[in-house]
Amino acid sequence: PGSAAAVGDDDLAVAGVPLTEVAARFGTPAYVLDEAEVRDRCRAYLRAFPGADVCYAAKAFLCRAMAHWVREEGLGLDVCSAGELELAVTSGFPPGRIVLHGNAKSPADLEAALRLGVGRIVIDSTSEIARLAAAVPAGSRQKVLVRVVPGIAAGGHAKIRTGTDDQKFGLSLTDGSAQHAITRVLGQPRLELVGLHCHLGSQITTVKPYLSAVRRLIGLLARIHEQHGLTLPELDLGGGHGIAYRPGEPALDLASLAHRIRAELARGCAAAGLPVPRLTVEPGRAIVGPAGVVLYRVLSAKRTGAHTFVAVDGGMSDNPRPALYGVRYAPRLIGRRPAAAPEPVTVVGRHCEAGDVLAADVPLPGDVRPGDLLAVPVAGAYHLSMASGYNLVGRPPVVAVTGGRARLLVRRESLADIQERDIGL
Ligand code: LLP
Repeated sequence: PGSAAAVGDDDLAVAGVPLTEVAARFGTPAYVLDEAEVRDRCRAYLRAFPGADVCYAAKAFLCRAMAHWVREEGLGLDVCSAGELELAVTSGFPPGRIVLHGNAKSPADLEAALRLGVGRIVIDSTSEIARLAAAVPAGSRQKVLVRVVPGIAAGGHAKIRTGTDDQKFGLSLTDGSAQHAITRVLGQPRLELVGLHCHLGSQITTVKPYLSAVRRLIGLLARIHEQHGLTLPELDLGGGHGIAYRPGEPALDLASLAHRIRAELARGCAAAGLPVPRLTVEPGRAIVGPAGVVLYRVLSAKRTGAHTFVAVDGGMSDNPRPALYGVRYAPRLIGRRPAAAPEPVTVVGRHCEAGDVLAADVPLPGDVRPGDLLAVPVAGAYHLSMASGYNLVGRPPVVAVTGGRARLLVRRESLADIQERDIGL
């Protein structure tokens, strides 16, 4: 997966720029993004889902350039905080094309959303209905969707499954809280209910759960029509489309997903006597994940009884995903021809805990040594966006490569940045 292409056997290039050059110019660790790959993936979504609204999920990765690329390609945006919202809007993203999510929207989130005029706000709990309605200025109406939990288990890890009742998001279809919330929203003159939303989870690699969700949501649309005489025009199926992190791993097939969702929608709506609602999808990972690579410099290598540990200049602060979800990556040695055969090596970070493992028992040349460069593909989604300041290590920069040129998009967080925020005694 991803866009990194081999140049000889000792280096990798992204968009024509050798990664060794990027490391020399911008330092390590560094995230590298292939702009053309991001744009191609946006276009593939628009082609697969003609007539639908494709909203990029900003939580996967957001910076000003990313907001700009996504807007230029014609996508909308899914945000879940005032931070993501303000960055997007101040980068020129049209607020009307933005959807605001969140199971616990703060007063600041709602204030920003209403002030900037976001297109849709997704209601996630009954308690936020009256609070949101009260914040909408007199004389105006806010378009909202209700987030429904359809009771479907899907997703790559328990921590990223959101389609079942035993988690914090949305309103349950099974216990009737979705139906109850809909009645409440309809009782609020400042809220305009335009549709239903559901997000099953993340890193889903099969189409089936999406089809089950479509069936259940059509069932609810039919009940709303029956009970309230209302035809809701929109259906947002969230994101969660899975990608391969290592060669050979399964990924969700975009063409088949789009085709089968459309067929199921057409069939189900015809059977229920409803018009087909306008579809929205919210891919995050599948747009940006494979377009990113992270570069590390090896700082130490040691053999213990059972393992060879190769320690790099980053770690769980720039990629918490192996520790959180047990995700397995495929690091590669770049910049020199290895003199030894591959053997199982464990790539660890620089942080002060034994769980700071980036890739356990992966095949790397037996002679990996300090000074070497490692590249880890498929690092575009949920790396920088989940990066922390653990051990007061600054966050890595983001470098874009486009048509043979590399440029800085987000600069490295410096020790001065970190110290500046601390105002002392
Ligand atoms: N829409 C909603 C409402 C979501 O909550 C999410 C992700 C998405 C769309 C986009 O999902 P995607 O297409 O990127 O899978 N930190 C985890 C992923 C958490 C996803 C949270 N919500 C990870 O690193 O795997």
